[in-house]
Amino acid sequence: MKTIYNEVPADALTGSMRDFRVPAGNDLERRVGNFFKWQNLRRQNGVWPFSRATDFGPRTEVSAADDRGIAMQGVNFASQDYLSMSSNPVIKATALEAIERYGVHSAGSPALVGNTTASVALERKIAEFLGMEDALLYPTGWGAGFGVIKGLVRSSDHIVMDTLSHTCLQEGANAATRNIYQFRHLDMAHCRRWLEKIRATDTENGIMVVTEGLFSMDSDTPDLAAMQELCNEFNATLMVDVAHDLGALGEDGRGHIGIQNMIGKVDIVMGSFSKTFASNGGFVAVKDRAIKEYLRFYSAPATFSNAMSPVNAAIVLKAFEIIDSPEGKVLRNELMTNVLELRRQLTAAGLEYYGDPSAIVAVKMGTEGLARLVSRRLPELGLLCNLVEYPAVGKGAARFRMQVMAKHSAQNVSDAVARIKAARLEAEIELATMGEQAPRMRAVA
Ligand SMILES: Cc1ncc(COP(=O)(O)O)c(C=O)c1O
Repeated sequence: MKTIYNEVPADALTGSMRDFRVPAGNDLERRVGNFFKWQNLRRQNGVWPFSRATDFGPRTEVSAADDRGIAMQGVNFASQDYLSMSSNPVIKATALEAIERYGVHSAGSPALVGNTTASVALERKIAEFLGMEDALLYPTGWGAGFGVIKGLVRSSDHIVMDTLSHTCLQEGANAATRNIYQFRHLDMAHCRRWLEKIRATDTENGIMVVTEGLFSMDSDTPDLAAMQELCNEFNATLMVDVAHDLGALGEDGRGHIGIQNMIGKVDIVMGSFSKTFASNGGFVAVKDRAIKEYLRFYSAPATFSNAMSPVNAAIVLKAFEIIDSPEGKVLRNELMTNVLELRRQLTAAGLEYYGDPSAIVAVKMGTEGLARLVSRRLPELGLLCNLVEYPAVGKGAARFRMQVMAKHSAQNVSDAVARIKAARLEAEIELATMGEQAPRMRAVA
């Protein structure tokens, strides 16, 4: 009988990036080699589904190559372009006009002369959009998340954060203070217990409570009004990262802050332009200009890093205009139609996913081994979507994060479901051939 599968060494299906986070040895360069060995084993066996490059950008259908140079074609549910702004003709025309007007480079920190009329107008637009007094830009969303925490929190202060907060927030917290308290995901009672504990002994120092408007791996959201109330009660500052919901969710595109009637009511809002606004860059919106001015000069990624390019600033400004217009509403409706249809078809195909309807539809797989085998088949079947595995999510909770775009067609959605279902079924058979103790997988004959 014909052999369907190649053998995959068990080592390529086990282990995680966590294993190499703290390598042993006194030679900084040599000690990282074991990661490369493990990564290469996965790469050679087709179960390293990262670092792909597309030929023509984040379209709904792509041709792309992996980092072995192996090409694939298919539907793309791996790019973050929720409202399909990246190929919007008005956005493209805006980028060209901005190049003509400003050139391509900001050539300075926003603390010096890196701003342009476009970036100043964008800061105003963000503040107005969110009902805040002011806003400042960062060259990346990562810099904004890291920078707002490190910029405001000092070593004697405290940070209470949702345990699933994005890495930029975790790293900002680690850089700012050792007084970090993680509460269970979305667990308000746990958050309250930390606040009570901190304030029982320390009324002198500050507390920042950190959460997200829409969590990027689980597609769920906290009760923002209750969190803000809790912060007020304990004289803490709430900071919400809206990277994944702003622009893309809600009747008016204000994300969960709008949906939960919290416009202008959250202490600090931080976001990224990389998911919905067709651009690099990020922002922090605040209720008092004094905070903005402080961050501009005491938040290193805003102070000592080149400002986002004027082209990006012009793009994001135009994207906000579209998001705030009837066209934006149509795009959000198209996106949500696709999201609901994808979820419906996944369920019909016997596949489960995490969370509430949003552009993030994370399809449950389970063990890392199974998910990696699925990832090997997906490009061959013609589907790009991102494998997320431990430590980015819990052990044994591997998933494929499908990120939906407004301009995905109905055919794209049904193709994606058929392909992930087929890959999963094949991977299950493949795994079933591996005995518990078998060091290598056997070929299915
Ligand atoms: C929740 C969250 N915050 C911040 C960021 C960082 O944004 P950027 O890609 O603009 O650096 C991301 C993107 O990965 C994110 O998912």
